[in-house]
Amino acid sequence: MWSSRRAAAVPGSVFSLMDAAKSRARGRGLDIIDLSIGSSDLNPPDVVLDALREATHNPATYRYPLFSDTQPLRDAAAAYLKRRFDVTLNADTEVLPLIGAQEGLAHLLLAVTDPGDSILLPDPCYPPYLGAVAVAGLNVVTLPLLPERGFLPDLNAVPDNVNPRVLLLNYPNNPTSAVATREFFQEAAAWCRERGTLLIHDHPYAELTFGNYRAPSALEAGTTGVVELHSLSKTHHMGGFRVGFAAGDAHAIAALARVKGAVDFHPYLGIQHAAALALGLPDEVCRAGASVFQERRDALVPALQSLGWEVQTPQASMYAWARVPGVTDSITYAVNAAEQTGVALSPGRAFGAGGEGFVRFALVQPPDKLQEAVRRLAELNA
Ligand SMILES: Cc1ncc(COP(=O)(O)O)c(C=O)c1O
Repeated sequence: MWSSRRAAAVPGSVFSLMDAAKSRARGRGLDIIDLSIGSSDLNPPDVVLDALREATHNPATYRYPLFSDTQPLRDAAAAYLKRRFDVTLNADTEVLPLIGAQEGLAHLLLAVTDPGDSILLPDPCYPPYLGAVAVAGLNVVTLPLLPERGFLPDLNAVPDNVNPRVLLLNYPNNPTSAVATREFFQEAAAWCRERGTLLIHDHPYAELTFGNYRAPSALEAGTTGVVELHSLSKTHHMGGFRVGFAAGDAHAIAALARVKGAVDFHPYLGIQHAAALALGLPDEVCRAGASVFQERRDALVPALQSLGWEVQTPQASMYAWARVPGVTDSITYAVNAAEQTGVALSPGRAFGAGGEGFVRFALVQPPDKLQEAVRRLAELNA
């Protein structure tokens, strides 16, 4: 009775099915290797934790933060973007702290669209996008991400009569772990500017890159008509802190600030302080975290390939995206795998129709556990 059409439109999650399957496996005495959730299992840097601990004992941090109080974090975010991507931003008008990228996206869509507007949304995609789009009342125009195109969309295939208000992209990508070049973002930004479309780039995996690969920023294509969402959840293993920032087009950032002004008072000052410090740490700190995920990738991917699974070696992100031989119903496969082997994966269908036939492995366990997971799955498939 007390559900709005907006609330009812938010899609349910298949993760409750996975939860139930894990419980049944536990009930049968299996130990669970949970690779279904993309939450970093590493710790934030010690100096960041120390800064937060100190802040919690400082009464000056207990009050509601005002916009002016967000300046140190805005400055740190702008300095980070300059250092990492050589992008120059006005920290007063082009940067805004977020309570995570997920919160930022939901409010940004409310800030820059009206109900009935169209959004170009990749398929497969990070499932909360679908909820944010439903809350904003948008019409989804699906942008297929196909393996033969390296999971990059073909913007030239979008019909001329489609005039989306927003194009949403995310590279390094969840769930496919695909990456995009600087030239790709330049083309996407030009395509958007021609149509009066806002390009939103969700960039939480900016620093989770392997070897010499470095992920570009969409803001390298200019800030007009482009907003990028950054998060410290994966880059600094601070998912539970709920902190990130939006950067880019000053008009969109101002609209976002208005909407957020009706909803929240910015992150806790202690967390802002910790996040600002994290963004200023030497690049090697992020590199060390990323190398842990790279080792896991190197343990998992060849083991899957030796089973004959089709899986690319990711250059970034914390996922491997694999097509399971002979599987056309990824939800049934993932539920069975969890129940029979204790290995919990995300079914590709959870990320949209375009994910069918695939599963996503989150690299959130040590190499030996990942290899153990593959051994168990091999028995299931045998
Ligand atoms: C593509 C993508 N965007 C956003 C998020 C959430 O980021 P945050 O923790 O900053 O809300 C995730 C988390 O998995 C993600 O994969």
